[in-house]
Amino acid sequence: MDKSGPVKGKEMNDLPVMEGAAVAIKDGKIDWIGSTDEASNAFAERTIDAKGKLVTPGLVEPHTHLVFGGSRETEMALKQQGVPYLEILKQGGGILSTVNATKQASCEKLLQKALFHLDRMAMYGITTVEAKSGYGLDKETELKQLNVVKEANVKHPLDIVSTFLGAHAIPPEYREDPEAFLELMSDLFAEIKENNLADFVDIFTETGVFSVEQSRRYLQKAKEYGFGVKIHADEIDPLGGTELAVEMGAISGDHLAVISVEGIKQLAASNTIGVILPGTSFYLGKDSYAPAREIIDQGAAVAISTDFNPGSSVTENLQLIMSIAALKLKLSPAEIWHAVTVNAAHAIGRGNDAGTIATGRKADVVIWDAPNYMYIPYHYGVNHVNTVIKNGGVLHERQEIQYDSITSF
Ligand code: NIG
Ligand code: FE
Repeated sequence: MDKSGPVKGKEMNDLPVMEGAAVAIKDGKIDWIGSTDEASNAFAERTIDAKGKLVTPGLVEPHTHLVFGGSRETEMALKQQGVPYLEILKQGGGILSTVNATKQASCEKLLQKALFHLDRMAMYGITTVEAKSGYGLDKETELKQLNVVKEANVKHPLDIVSTFLGAHAIPPEYREDPEAFLELMSDLFAEIKENNLADFVDIFTETGVFSVEQSRRYLQKAKEYGFGVKIHADEIDPLGGTELAVEMGAISGDHLAVISVEGIKQLAASNTIGVILPGTSFYLGKDSYAPAREIIDQGAAVAISTDFNPGSSVTENLQLIMSIAALKLKLSPAEIWHAVTVNAAHAIGRGNDAGTIATGRKADVVIWDAPNYMYIPYHYGVNHVNTVIKNGGVLHERQEIQYDSITSF
């Protein structure tokens, strides 16, 4: 089994590619990798002809807010009028409006909705996904979200990695005392650990949300309970969340849209992965994007993600994000593929399990209607998936339109 680490800096531009390759799958695992010629002599119960197509590891989506009630399409008009994201939040909208909808939704409803989004992610070629809580902001609703993630992980074929993001916003009743709110959320650590409800603890370190100092204390406690930690860092204001992520040994620092020069330097010298979410900059109508070029050039490992959520990035389409990464972050196709496979897997602690096609690993493989790997970011906004194989089984195949079944009215 390949136990190598994330791909950093310049190496991200060096993508291992095989032409005319074949892959054998047995008992849900990659059994053999070789040439099509060699494979033609071997026996297989079922053969899929991928001639002329691209075959890659299943995509790994390292940052989503999967479980939530309602939707926020009415906020689009406010954003068009120029009301800033943090202002909408301050007025009780934004994250807080999703919190109300999530409190009101039943477990069944939340589960049904999460499964719907997971189906869509699978259809876009994602085979492993991280899911955060954070739309409860009270004990009961945060646990409800985490339990829905757990249930979804049992019911849905995709692998889900769970993150507790109770520190996502300050609920109105704690507006004057964010410390007490963090205390309340950290009271849940023991129960979450005991019931195996999350692998990671995340916090939104941002103006009007949690300060660097508050974040440090909260995450320190999380580490004492044995959680890996993550930070929503330097998304809107450059508070130094990235430096904190490095200091805490976080598995990832996410967003980094306004990371400082010092932050880039420290990230590059660390084992923390920079998870960049360019769909958020796009969807919030920002003129500038995370300096991903600089971050990679300085030597850091970068992953990219949709940040799928009902407010700042409403899409499950990671292929679209790959195009935005090419156009706005100026990443090369090779860097982009590393960012949605091996590095994304490492950013959620699944580096030894997902994100590469290697003998002995779980057979999570996607066949694309594309002649080569550069084609996916190039041809943007559509779904290029032909076939998704999850744990060795065909999970999804592109449906062809049946012309002869047209009915007239
Ligand atoms: O990653 N930044 C904070 N949290 C989410 C947005 C959540 C929302 O707007 O509902 C993010 O962008
Ligand atoms: Fe997020």
